[in-house]
This record gives sequence, C-alpha cells and structure tokens, in this order.
Amino acid sequence: MKIISVVGARPNFMKIAPFIREVERYNKTADHKIQNILVHTGQHYDIRMSEAFFKALNIPDPDINLEVGSGTHAEQIGNTMIAFEKVLLEQNPDLVVVVGDVNATLSCSVVAKKLNVRLCHIEAGLRSGDMSMPEEINRIVTDRLSDLLFTPDRLSSENLKKEGTPDDKIFFVGNIMIDTLQDNLVNAQKLSIESIIRENIIPESNLSGAFTVDNKYGLVTLHRPSNVDPEEVFVPLVKFLLNEVTRDLVLIWPIHPRARKRLKEYRLFDDVVNHPSLILLEPVGYHEMLRLNLGARIMLTDSGGLQEECCVLGTPCLTLRWNTERPVTLRKNGGASVLVGNSISVIRNEYYNTLSMERNPKRPELWDGHTANRIVETLVKSFEQ
Ligand code: UD1
Repeated sequence: MKIISVVGARPNFMKIAPFIREVERYNKTADHKIQNILVHTGQHYDIRMSEAFFKALNIPDPDINLEVGSGTHAEQIGNTMIAFEKVLLEQNPDLVVVVGDVNATLSCSVVAKKLNVRLCHIEAGLRSGDMSMPEEINRIVTDRLSDLLFTPDRLSSENLKKEGTPDDKIFFVGNIMIDTLQDNLVNAQKLSIESIIRENIIPESNLSGAFTVDNKYGLVTLHRPSNVDPEEVFVPLVKFLLNEVTRDLVLIWPIHPRARKRLKEYRLFDDVVNHPSLILLEPVGYHEMLRLNLGARIMLTDSGGLQEECCVLGTPCLTLRWNTERPVTLRKNGGASVLVGNSISVIRNEYYNTLSMERNPKRPELWDGHTANRIVETLVKSFEQ
C-alpha cells in the first residue's frame, strides 16, 4: 500500500506524528509494508511554526515540500492544488491521508478526489456550524469527499451520519492529538518555566533576567482572523489583558505571526512589550507549550487544539469564540473550557468565575493515546477487503 500523508500548518504536525510512528511500527512486522510519503505543503514555513515541531516530535523530514507559503485563501489553496496534483500524478498512491482542517487539508483532498485516489480524513466530523470560519468550510468539503473518516468523538460521528455519510465509512477512533500529548508529557514536565521564558522571549522585550512566576500565571494565545484582524475587536481584547487581567496574574503570551503583525499595525506592540506583567514570547515549541499549559492557572485562547489539551490536563480555559467544533471539551459537558466569544463583559465575568477554579482533568472516550494504532489497523483492513 502506498500512502501520501499531508501536512501544512502547525496544528497538523502533532496529528501526523503518531500516525507516522504507527506506520513504522506496523512495517517492522508486516509482510506487506506500507510506503508512506510525507508531503508538507509549506503553508507554515517559519522555523518556529514548522521545523521546530518536526524536530521535537521526531517527524521525519518531509519527502516533498510544496513551498506554497502565505497568501489569500484562493492563492494558498490554488497554489497547493496545482503543486499537489503534480505530486499525485507522479507518485500514483493508493491513498491520501489528510489531517485536521487547515487550507492544506482542503486543497489536497480536492486534488486526490479529482484524480480518483482514495481519501482518508483524520479528525473528521467536527462541526462548529459557523460558516464564516475558514476551517468549517475545509472540514465540510474534506469530509464530503473522504472515503474513510476517522472521528475523535461520538458526536462527530453523529454529525457525519446526519449529513448522510454512510455508516461504513465512519470510524470512531478517538483523538490522535492526545497520543502526542501522552507521548510527550514526561519530557515536557522536565522543562522549567523560567528557562522557557528566557529562551523564547521576543527580542524587543525589556524584561530581561530571571522571572519567578510562582505558577501564578495565565496563558494567552490568539490567532483567529475574527479576533485579531478587526481593530474594534482586537484592541479592546488586548487592553482588557493589559489593564485588568494583569492585576491578578502575570500573563504569558506566545504570539502567532498574525497577531504580532496586528499589534504593530494597531500601535499596541510597545505597550504590550513594555508591560511589566505581560511576557510576550515567540511562538513556542510543542513541549514548551505543554509545560506552560501544565502550570497555568487559566488559559485564554481561541485555539481548537488547546481546548482539547486543557480538557485532558484540566486547565480552566476561556475559549475566545462564540462556538466550538469540540463540544466535548466544554465545562458544561464535563470538560475545562467555557465559550466567551470576544465580548469584554462576557470575558470579564467568566474570567473572575474561573480564576478560583481548580484543575479538573477529563479524558473523553478513547482519548487514550492509542488512536493512531486504531487508525492504521483500520486502514490495513480496508485494503485487505
Ligand atoms: C492556520 C489555519 C488555522 C490554524 C492555524 C494555526 C487555515 C485556514 N488556518 O491559520 O486553522 O489554527 O494555522 O497557526 O488553514 N505566517 C508567518 N509564518 C508562518 C506562517 C504564517 O509569518 O510560518 C503569517 C503570514 O503572514 C500569514 C499569516 O501568518 O499570512 C497567517 O498564516 P496562514 O497559514 O494563512 O493562517 P493561520 O492564521 O496561521
């Protein structure tokens, strides 16, 4: 069996790592080996957004890099499709495996299907119901085209059934990101918060030397266009962090390139960099983020993956979105997060409610570290039929 597996952007890397490792494990004993070619579309290209994750998670170097880079959605998707079509025509695989919901996922799914190559989607069935999110479009198109759909929870399987996906294409296997979390927890725990800060603080910062955050810090990440692009949303959010949250906590904010650009554009960068209780970091590596999450009193984020990691680690989390495609992570469903959108009054209210909360770790069904194993077993069986 010849597979092409695809990654493009940061959240894909922790999903492909366990899959590749499981394929390698399978090949050690199998008569009919799986040949896996790894394609990186190049959507994320900064060392800190891409290469660092390959190294930290022991992902082999990509066999092929399409080097599409940034651009508008149409540019990014169009360029990826053109480049990936050439790869498929040359390699002629039996199966294309895509993960998650980024532009790389959508682009390569469409190309595979147009060339009649079987398509497998890992992390299928997530639905936010919000079609203004680029990821929701990517998920719906990818799932509609996929032949094998691996879901992280039962609700996602139900979503697919409701949309008319036949039962025999849907496989509830659990959350593959949690395989990665489990594999890396011990190494992450060994890191010290102070050295993470020292090694990742942005060069413009005047905060130098030793930090003792005494585990009394909040962790912030923001990158969604809906939060960071509109000035009328982003500016009040940043001011709330600067003027209110820092009264109770030191804030650590590993910053996404998009948010960093906006801070500069909206002339907030200097205020943020010079604030004595806000520590602005470069985008940090996988283990570093896991360590920061493990020690945080509270997480404020608009990331989907972090909602899931907070659920398993129990970190009280404010999700700065109005909806989520990952409802199993919500406090009302036993998880650790609560939706607060981007209204300052709602965020303020929930922030004070949440500050006093204890950690409450929860593992949804099959978030057990063995998802990749179930996926590879299912793929192999589907080829034997
Ligand atoms: C993408 C995914 C999003 C995911 C996020 C994680 C889509 C539609 N969105 O969003 O689902 O949660 O990745 O980060 O696929 N940039 C750099 N260096 C890089 C990559 C990006 O500077 O290595 C800058 C560029 O200016 C670029 C901007 O960040 O225009 C946004 O990058 P892009 O890949 O378009 O989307 P993300 O916001 O990262």
